[in-house]
Amino acid sequence: MSDILDLGGRVALVTGAGQGVGRQVALQLADAKGSGGVVVNDYVLARAEAVAEEIRSAGGTALALQCDVSDHAAVKAMVEKAAAELGPVGARAPIPRRSWASRSGRPGPRSGTASSASTSMG
Ligand SMILES: NC(=O)c1ccc[n+]([C@@H]2O[C@H](COP(=O)([O-])OP(=O)(O)OC[C@H]3O[C@@H](n4cnc5c(N)ncnc54)[C@H](O)[C@@H]3O)[C@@H](O)[C@H]2O)c1
Repeated sequence: MSDILDLGGRVALVTGAGQGVGRQVALQLADAKGSGGVVVNDYVLARAEAVAEEIRSAGGTALALQCDVSDHAAVKAMVEKAAAELGPVGARAPIPRRSWASRSGRPGPRSGTASSASTSMG
């Protein structure tokens, strides 16, 4: 039987990972068996960098990449940069859906609030 908690060396990309639910998902994926590293995305770069540093301090592999996930071209560029630095992304966890930022062009009431979470792996 396969181990569903074994990431098999896959690189994970977690969007909206600078705080809250996304941060926790990023920390768990970095610590999971077979983690190939985590791309920590957030609209606010300083948040992403802080979480990536948290992962590295704990011995994991992490890369902080800023982009607004409502911007398709920016997401494509982020995925390409992630592949160049860590390898192809094999697991994804999109935390913000259509974010507050995508509707207003700027971070939400708590300086970048997403409006719902959905997590998918694949
Ligand atoms: N916290 C909970 O217990 C909980 C439970 C269930 C569902 N949710 C939902 O999950 C979502 C996340 O919750 P949270 O508490 O972690 O939110 P949060 O606001 O604390 O964190 C969301 C992160 O996503 C980033 N972000 C927002 N829009 C972005 C964009 N367009 N591109 C990139 N990054 C972006 C923000 O900068 C922020 O760091 C919310 O919509 C919330 O309603 C939260």
